[in-house]
Amino acid sequence: MTQRTSLLTGGAGFIGSHLAHKLLEKGNRVIVLDDLSTGKFSNIEELDRQYGPDGRFKFIFDTVLHERVVEDLVREADEIYHLASAVGVNLIMEEPVRTIETIVGGTHAVLRCAARYRRRTMIFSTSEVYGKSMDVPFREDGDRLEGATSRHRWAYACAKSLDEFLALAHWKQTRLPVIVVRLFNTAGPRQTGQYGMVIPSFVRRALTGAPLSVYGTGEQSRCFCHVSDVVEAIEALMGAEGATGEVFNIGSTQEITILDLARKIVALTKSSSPIELVPYESVYGADGFEDMQRRLPCIDKIGRAIGWKPRRSLDEIITDVAAEAK
Ligand SMILES: NC(=O)c1ccc[n+]([C@@H]2O[C@H](COP(=O)([O-])OP(=O)(O)OC[C@H]3O[C@@H](n4cnc5c(N)ncnc54)[C@H](O)[C@@H]3O)[C@@H](O)[C@H]2O)c1
Repeated sequence: MTQRTSLLTGGAGFIGSHLAHKLLEKGNRVIVLDDLSTGKFSNIEELDRQYGPDGRFKFIFDTVLHERVVEDLVREADEIYHLASAVGVNLIMEEPVRTIETIVGGTHAVLRCAARYRRRTMIFSTSEVYGKSMDVPFREDGDRLEGATSRHRWAYACAKSLDEFLALAHWKQTRLPVIVVRLFNTAGPRQTGQYGMVIPSFVRRALTGAPLSVYGTGEQSRCFCHVSDVVEAIEALMGAEGATGEVFNIGSTQEITILDLARKIVALTKSSSPIELVPYESVYGADGFEDMQRRLPCIDKIGRAIGWKPRRSLDEIITDVAAEAK
């Protein structure tokens, strides 16, 4: 069997590095293109050491916005996982220009090159595209409800929606084999709390006895999926013929409020940290932050396509994150 080459943009990040590991274990050759803006070389250092010398792993330190670089790598690859993106609520609120340019410009460059060489491409979108819709559980063909353009938070959702439109347009117009995945909250080892990700930041604070800050009333709920479950879904979808030209939710259906999440983390880590409620305005300023109240996926479609559903619990996620943080 010939060896497949997988190109992972953003492969030095949280999800990308887990995916790189899985693909290498499967026998693929892996190329990572990453500018290390939110990712870390240490996430892939072991892979570089283990698989670099025989040419099965290659890391390119550059940006997806450099189309000439992307083109050379796409030509070498059989399949593309386009994960590179501005991520995290803090970064999105603080650097709105970079957020939009990276998401839209990066995906545009990747899809243009993929179209030139006819490469199978997976585009990483987000549950944020459902916006403020309360029509839960969110279905892939459901309506989206995004807020005003003066509220920067929605730029991320809007840019990712445009990425989806562009990917599906390539499929419609030239039958470029694309797959769009909408990830819901994903968590596990190697995720950094630095850019506003809730589980790693709560766990780190709980382990040091610092207060856990819950924004708003804490009644907003989320579903957290273990990164190992997510990576299994991603890999299976890439190999599923019937997935081409389709959009899939990937996430857990176990809902928890952020206040209960904080309580659970304090209990599981046997912490003495207090939990405090903090108004959104004091964190994100007066120009507005609107949160989504619930973010519950319908995962029937991916279940029908590849028989996937999450296997790991929220307790396992917290235990794994705490073990790494210690
Ligand atoms: N983690 C989640 O809960 C979640 C939820 C929904 C969607 N997603 C999507 O999954 C993908 C991966 O997210 P993650 O959680 O692993 O975040 P991450 O920040 O760990 O990974 C993103 C990677 O992209 C890299 N990157 C950013 N800009 C780049 C550029 N211009 N050129 C090259 N590399 C660049 C970063 O350095 C980083 O390594 C993203 O597209 C994100 O939008 C993640």
